[in-house]
Amino acid sequence: MRIFLAPMEGVVDFQMRQLLTSIGGLDGCVTEFLRICDQRLPRRVFTKLCPELLQQSHTQSGTPVAFQLLGGNAEAMAFNAAKAASLGADSIDLNFGCPAKTVNRNDGGAKLLQEPNRIHTIVRAVREAVPNDIDVTAKIRLGFQDRSMGLENAHAIADAGAQRLVVHARSKSDAYRPPAYWNELQPIREQLGIPVIANGEIWSAEDLKRCAEQSGCEDFMIGRGLLARPDLALAIKHPDTHLAWDWQDILPLLLDFFRKGIEQYPEKYCGNRLKQWFMYLQRSYPEAERFFNSLKRLRGRDEIETLFAQHAKEQRIELAS
Ligand SMILES: Cc1cc2nc3c(=O)[nH]c(=O)nc-3n(C[C@H](O)[C@H](O)[C@H](O)COP(=O)(O)O)c2cc1C
Repeated sequence: MRIFLAPMEGVVDFQMRQLLTSIGGLDGCVTEFLRICDQRLPRRVFTKLCPELLQQSHTQSGTPVAFQLLGGNAEAMAFNAAKAASLGADSIDLNFGCPAKTVNRNDGGAKLLQEPNRIHTIVRAVREAVPNDIDVTAKIRLGFQDRSMGLENAHAIADAGAQRLVVHARSKSDAYRPPAYWNELQPIREQLGIPVIANGEIWSAEDLKRCAEQSGCEDFMIGRGLLARPDLALAIKHPDTHLAWDWQDILPLLLDFFRKGIEQYPEKYCGNRLKQWFMYLQRSYPEAERFFNSLKRLRGRDEIETLFAQHAKEQRIELAS
């Protein structure tokens, strides 16, 4: 069984990939998407989104990082994929699942699921532009308006030469509303000659077990579940030996993540990724809810540092100064 960390724009950045893969249990991760229009993007755009390019496309704990591109122009996708490959990308992942209106209006993401021929053309163009030893993978939903286009798109992708497919078991119209339709992955997994990775709504080891039973998949991608419970992949892989992490284990990670973000983002945005993370942590940790209620109004670095210090004192947790 392999477990991949899902790409999440606005929260799973370089620091988050670093942090979550250092905890363990993860076999791969993916960058946030790079939106491609028709330009050849410069090197700095690639290394900003994926600083791991400067360390052989692996996080410091040795987990491979795929570089994700999103767009509808096959030629532009191909030359930018070739650029990512020349800069050392471990593999290229193509996003055909994004539901965001601005992305869909600009001919990208889930909208393309209505046009399997175009998806085929894009994947083939990218496959041909990238050296053979670099995998090309794709990530889709089961369809745009409804869930009827999963199999056709999956075939279009596999026939174009992709090495792997992640399927988020919902349509674009399903948005993020539970449930995920894991059973609808079964025919795709059965018919495709490449590995199919199940994604969507896995929050616990029990969810993963049910997803495996219903989809028949052996590999999984988890996004929000890993933000809610950073040790989830470890708990799944080592159920007999892993001791579930408590708030005392998590709080120092949060402070570290916040401080690293300060170096990377302008001060008025420095708390944004932390706030996003807290949205999910509240599912698992009651302490996170109290912290978040105070955090959500704060913007400055010093205010947020003070909140960490007060909270740690109340909870009797020792934090690095
Ligand atoms: C805030 C957010 C940002 C996301 N950004 C991306 C992205 O950049 N690329 C992508 O392929 N999927 C993106 N996704 C979708 C996730 O990768 C994943 O498919 C989805 O969250 C379902 O998996 P989960 O239930 O395990 O979270 C995003 C999802 C969320 C909630």
